[in-house]
Amino acid sequence: MLGMSTLVLGGTGKTGRRIVERLTARGVPTRVGSRSGEPPFDWYDEATWAPALRGVSAAYISVYPDIAIPGAAEMAGAFAQFAVDNGVRRIVLLSGRGEDGAQRGEEAVRAASADCTILRSSWFSQNFSESFLLDAVRAGVVALPANSVPEPFVDVDDIADAAVAALTEDGHAGELYEVTGPRLLTFADAVGDIGRATGRDVRFVRVSLEDYAAELASYEVPQDEIELLTYLFSEVLDGRNARLTDGIERAIGRAPRDFRDYARDAAASGVWNGAA
Ligand SMILES: NC(=O)c1ccc[n+]([C@@H]2O[C@H](COP(=O)([O-])OP(=O)(O)OC[C@H]3O[C@@H](n4cnc5c(N)ncnc54)[C@H](OP(=O)(O)O)[C@@H]3O)[C@@H](O)[C@H]2O)c1
Repeated sequence: MLGMSTLVLGGTGKTGRRIVERLTARGVPTRVGSRSGEPPFDWYDEATWAPALRGVSAAYISVYPDIAIPGAAEMAGAFAQFAVDNGVRRIVLLSGRGEDGAQRGEEAVRAASADCTILRSSWFSQNFSESFLLDAVRAGVVALPANSVPEPFVDVDDIADAAVAALTEDGHAGELYEVTGPRLLTFADAVGDIGRATGRDVRFVRVSLEDYAAELASYEVPQDEIELLTYLFSEVLDGRNARLTDGIERAIGRAPRDFRDYARDAAASGVWNGAA
């Protein structure tokens, strides 16, 4: 709608930042929805929701810290309802694959907006370069409680393209796009690709769930984050997500990017240079 803005929640994060860049490049009035946005948006301070939604007709919802944690589904549903009540007509929700909590979040948002578009995503490739695995890759040892079940890592640039299509084009209302990359990789495979891309010795080491949790605790990682990570490694990586989907192709009409291309570009950016 003319003159109306698109609100991008998590607009400085992995997916949101890229969506903001793309919308801005297209001349779409765009607002960053985060604590550092103008006006600020805080999931945990509902007084910030109305100012963030003023003059907004479309919204990208990525829940912080994770749509699968207890209470997140209800929070996402409440925000979606509030957005619809305040004039938002188009909603795109970022969700997670094979996670009960995330699927509850989808239902809660769909209850507010039956026309919303859902991007149900596999693990992001960028977890290795922009998130909790970055320091390990820099240090040359990625120690995880990951088994040999493969995961179809998806590139967040593809998620951003899909989100922008759904926010700006007709034809995506009510769609559920399950988005994956084009190849199934174990964590050992992924780390191998990164090692080859960087030309450095980067090793994958399998550790027990207990040792992983203890290691995180020794770095003073908050307990709720430890619980989320151990949940993801113990329950979600059990084979339920070990298959490819055509969600990216359906959403944007082209194949998803391969992990090798991601690793090559991330290596070239210098993000993995030097020990942590
Ligand atoms: N990582 C994966 O592999 C994966 C896979 C599937 C689904 N997901 C889903 O992806 C979502 C996260 O998206 P993302 O990775 O693009 O984001 P992200 O990189 O985790 O970015 C965090 C964003 O949230 C903002 N933020 C932090 N605290 C906030 C608060 N209290 N209120 C409002 N905003 C806050 C940050 O900005 P400020 O600091 O300025 O507030 C930043 O923009 C989660 O819901 C997760 O379930 C992730």
